[in-house]
Amino acid sequence: MDQLSGMDRSELSGFARKLPKTELHLHIEGTLEARMMFDLAERNQLSLPYRTIEEVEAAYRFTDLQSFLDIYYQAADVLQTEADFADLMSAYLTRVSAEGVRHAEIFFDPQTHTHRGVDMGTVIGGFVQAQEEAAPDITSSLILCFLRHLSAEDAMETLEAARPYLEYIQGVGLDSGEKGNPPERFVEPYRQAVQAGLVPVAHAGEEGPAEYIWSALDLLGARRIDHGVRAIDDPRLIERLARDRVPLTMCPLSNQRLQVYPDLKQHPLRRFMEAGVMVTVNSDDPAYFGGYVLDNYLAIAEALDLTGPDLVRLAENSVAASFLPSGRKAALLEEISTYVRRFVRRS
Ligand code: ADE
Ligand code: ZN
Repeated sequence: MDQLSGMDRSELSGFARKLPKTELHLHIEGTLEARMMFDLAERNQLSLPYRTIEEVEAAYRFTDLQSFLDIYYQAADVLQTEADFADLMSAYLTRVSAEGVRHAEIFFDPQTHTHRGVDMGTVIGGFVQAQEEAAPDITSSLILCFLRHLSAEDAMETLEAARPYLEYIQGVGLDSGEKGNPPERFVEPYRQAVQAGLVPVAHAGEEGPAEYIWSALDLLGARRIDHGVRAIDDPRLIERLARDRVPLTMCPLSNQRLQVYPDLKQHPLRRFMEAGVMVTVNSDDPAYFGGYVLDNYLAIAEALDLTGPDLVRLAENSVAASFLPSGRKAALLEEISTYVRRFVRRS
């Protein structure tokens, strides 16, 4: 294993690229690249507040979560037809299957679309078409998110609108502006979603306090916490996460761009790993935050001096923390160890 520990940056990058992994925190609307935004605006005859890629890049200098969300929800307006949603999903799956992603559990925000008159069936139909047509070496599932800046009643209506499509949806999540929007309000929509067979997860402790993580666990029954970085403030919570093996789906480049940790060297990922918490690395909204999942592995490795074995642990965690059946998990873990063995033998 010495070869793994002693890799320089370029070797580590080559190693991480093909390392089999899953992605568990990815908003499909956050994969809308500027190029595709322009193409879809043209296809749907819409005007955009930007004329050039440079203008887009200038707009993507975020000061906090809300400054990002304002731009992100507006950009989603270009998604109108089933083909648009299919193209978005297809581009993501194609792109990340080339960087070792073997499975992705993908968030979508139906209210962003239904509130502007796009039918739930159009959204899900497009996604499912692309998922079914994707390369055979990547699988994926969908997690329906409630927007927490909207009401519980709205969340309930969203769940009702999704009922005809539940066979295509694996989980329920909670996202959007966190501060002032604690999990408490969503107890009833979550209860109904779980009763309908969806697995609960929730964004918590990204900008909001550690108490929101306790509520997500105890009131919503969240099986994973998305972000969860603020748990670092609460030793009892760290113990609880470690003891119950509750995964945290962390997104380093997102935290950096949204000024949660402007300097990634301050990021708590390594401290969570050392405390025995099951952390995973993901991309959140890669078209907005400057990198897909591989870039996130490499950025956090560089900032925190992570080694090859640390990256292997993160990839193994990504499999263990997924909602895949145990047989597929075992097969993916075996793929990881075969990959590592071959890599060590070759170097
Ligand atoms: N929606 C998309 N990205 C998000 C994030 N980082 N936090 C909350 N809601 C989001
Ligand atoms: Zn997120």
